[in-house]
Amino acid sequence: MQHADQVAYLERMLGMVRNNTRDDGPGLSHTPVETYYDADRFRREVDLLFRRHPIVVGFSSQLRRAGDFVTHDHTGQPILVTRGTDGLLRAFLNVCRHRGATVEPKACGANKRAFVCAYHGWSYDLTGRLVGITDGAMFGDVDRAAYGLRRLKVAEKHGLVWVVPTALANGEDAGFDIDAYLEPLGADLSGWDMQGWELHNSQPIRPRMNWKLVIDTFLELYHFRYLHPGTVYPLFLDNVATYERMGSHMRWAAAKRTLTEIEGQPTESWRIRDHAIVFYQLFPNTVLTYTQDHCGVFTSFPVTPDESVMQFSVLVPPEEKAQKPESYWKKNVDFFATALVEDFGIGETIQRNFRSGANREQTFGKFEKALGWYHEEVERAVLSSPPHA
Ligand code: FES
Ligand SMILES: [Fe+2]
Repeated sequence: MQHADQVAYLERMLGMVRNNTRDDGPGLSHTPVETYYDADRFRREVDLLFRRHPIVVGFSSQLRRAGDFVTHDHTGQPILVTRGTDGLLRAFLNVCRHRGATVEPKACGANKRAFVCAYHGWSYDLTGRLVGITDGAMFGDVDRAAYGLRRLKVAEKHGLVWVVPTALANGEDAGFDIDAYLEPLGADLSGWDMQGWELHNSQPIRPRMNWKLVIDTFLELYHFRYLHPGTVYPLFLDNVATYERMGSHMRWAAAKRTLTEIEGQPTESWRIRDHAIVFYQLFPNTVLTYTQDHCGVFTSFPVTPDESVMQFSVLVPPEEKAQKPESYWKKNVDFFATALVEDFGIGETIQRNFRSGANREQTFGKFEKALGWYHEEVERAVLSSPPHA
């Protein structure tokens, strides 16, 4: 985040403390409750948002060397990402071209030279080329060039790996312009300098909530006082935050209780991470949280209209990791995991209650405007063709 933006956000939040105001939108906003459980709507979201948009499926630190790989199934598509001896990252459908078995069953690994299908032993090199057919001479004529693993569009930036989970035709270009997709957040994300950060922890959580309701829990601080009195609330000023729409994405900051310590200090010395957490919502399903010494990556994936998987990952700069003991990081992860249990405990009641007939729509207050923006963006994307189709 550029220093001028950091100062502007900190000043805005100090103003809210001084005048007891909030970062208000023009009025209330709403979204119909059906969007959280309707089966047709759910299918459209999967087909459009989770097949045509870039989705974070892994991290550069898992894929540093040739032969490193990760697999990923949360989008509903079986995905395999690996780095070739040429240094390039490639993504494939993790599906054997013989009769469709899963080629690589492990979640991640290293030193692969080829992926060998466990069913009949067909093998694929790191570029996805079919290089071995068991008893090939007797099997019959197979045009090997046409039987490589199906490619997917893939991009790597800021330590994150994105895939567009739709199979490409043979010969179709697998690259895409991730910078264009992330605009106008490019300068911000470059500023955090995450390329070398290490994946410290990654765990799935499976709330019985629609995948968007999971994202909703990150978009306001209004609930901290009541829902998180023993976890995050003691760290933050009550509902002091500032929100901004950035293309189809969002950026916001939440003030910590130490914020007022910077009053009177020269603005050149202000550093937002010391007195606030900075959040980004990367459309459609990722939230990044920058704290003093790490970045939390939260990705929400649809399972059914009423269930999701949220992958909670922590990226740490190597110098921070070297300075602090394992017990420090474990405490940190446990702390956030406890707050998530609180969020999802209440979220699961909301999901169950959607069908009760009590509310036809969700009501978002003026300082909950980020929820209104988010659902507007989802609606727009579901109704239109996305830029990277
Ligand atoms: S399904 Fe993979 S070798 Fe037969
Ligand atoms: Fe929360």
